[in-house]
Amino acid sequence: MTEPCCLIIFGSTGNLATSKLLPALYHLEVARKLHPDTRIVGFGRREWNHQHWQGIVRDGLAPRVRGDLETEVTERFLQRLLFVPGDLDDAGAFAGLAKFLSASSGLPRNRAYYLAIGPNFYTSVASQLAAAGLHTEDRGWSRLVVEKPFGYDLESAQILDQALHRHFREDQIYRIDHYLGKSTVQNVLVFRFANLMLEPLWNRNYIDHVQITHAESRGIGSRAGYYDQVGALRDMIQSHLLQMLTLVAMEPPADLDAESLRDEKVKVLRSIRPIPRPAVHSQAYRAQYRGGRVDGEELPGYAEEPGVEAGSTTETFSALKLYIDNWRWRNVPFLLRTGKRMRSDNSLISIRFKHPPQQLFRETAIDQLKPNWLLLNIQPSECLRVELQVKQPGLEMRTQTTRLDASQCTLNETKIDAYEALILDVIEGDHSLFLRYDEVKWAWQVVDPVLKVWSTEREYIPTYASGSWGPEESNRLFDRDDQQWRNELFDETS
Ligand code: BG6
Repeated sequence: MTEPCCLIIFGSTGNLATSKLLPALYHLEVARKLHPDTRIVGFGRREWNHQHWQGIVRDGLAPRVRGDLETEVTERFLQRLLFVPGDLDDAGAFAGLAKFLSASSGLPRNRAYYLAIGPNFYTSVASQLAAAGLHTEDRGWSRLVVEKPFGYDLESAQILDQALHRHFREDQIYRIDHYLGKSTVQNVLVFRFANLMLEPLWNRNYIDHVQITHAESRGIGSRAGYYDQVGALRDMIQSHLLQMLTLVAMEPPADLDAESLRDEKVKVLRSIRPIPRPAVHSQAYRAQYRGGRVDGEELPGYAEEPGVEAGSTTETFSALKLYIDNWRWRNVPFLLRTGKRMRSDNSLISIRFKHPPQQLFRETAIDQLKPNWLLLNIQPSECLRVELQVKQPGLEMRTQTTRLDASQCTLNETKIDAYEALILDVIEGDHSLFLRYDEVKWAWQVVDPVLKVWSTEREYIPTYASGSWGPEESNRLFDRDDQQWRNELFDETS
């Protein structure tokens, strides 16, 4: 059971609140993790009362929770919901919120403000909260939860951070990267540091290269307003994929506390070799999806999606090759790739090992030894797989790939959503899975040179077929011909 608190959601009728936050809070209710006095306060423009919002939330929950809504739990959960109407740029509305939070008897004095709103409102909401005296911690804690994207580039991230720090201390700020709340992402740390076996191999002597892919079969849907300004590199790589890279590449932290963990992640980001301007095209690739038929359905191209600016060259696919200049990883390429409207939904960390140094099987029927792979599937299935070569049964000396699955490679329908873990951490005051500003800054530093070059090349962008694994040309990021993208857990060519 957690401490009692008020969780105030800005953007309570938006997509994030409806599809992620409220279902996550409902699941915390099911798990009895919320204190009986905890309340969830929606702040929004509509002139709703508490009951009206409760009805809206009830309707929104049904299709989004695991299993059926449980009547008793749902009633208990809905009773926690309170609605305060108000506009984000109306100082009077914040004064009204402050009055509501303090005047209503029985509301806990611990408060978490969740900014589930467009990033352009972060600064003003933080200032309005402060102007209404809601940032102080005289009778309970006061925490600010900020979603990604944290800034638009290095410079704007810096400005945003300074603006938030004008009113909130660092320990009051929780910068979310929801990938860190996924249990399979956390499993990377356990897998690496709770087992001895792999550590001797986890370096430049044995690892050929590392790939981190996040593919989505869906397009941008109704998110053009956000996405068209942002693109795939900012949306996924600067945040989620670089975070996964840090977990794969980091040194063991001194402790599991938030600062030790984040110190090690920052060391990785700082060690990434800066991409010089002339190398941008050999280390980065971008493209946009075309319309076409996928599984019998006619789908629009990105340029035809509602709300996308005519002639937009925003990328929906981007790939990046990075090198980490430290003793462990020098010259091992890390390839990050993400795309919308790809063949299937899959987030996969694929680690390819080098070939054995001796060509012992040269004189046999084995024409080419296949490399070993270690695969960590983040979603949709949670899976850890090692691919090894073994002898095919029979008289000839031939090999075949055998796969060792260290966990069930099955779809896990009951898995906890990242937001459940992260909301609990906010209430418990644990920063381990949240980003410290220097992580954000160094991550921007990594992608900034690419963004700068791309921003000057706005006349043309290559396209790729919807339902494909992205543009073939992105293969040119690999150093050698025998390297290529690993798309799925089960890959015929491996
Ligand atoms: C979000 C991005 O941060 O992550 C989206 O803005 C993306 O574009 C999403 O679709 C992917 O998250 P998940 O948890 O669905 O893999």
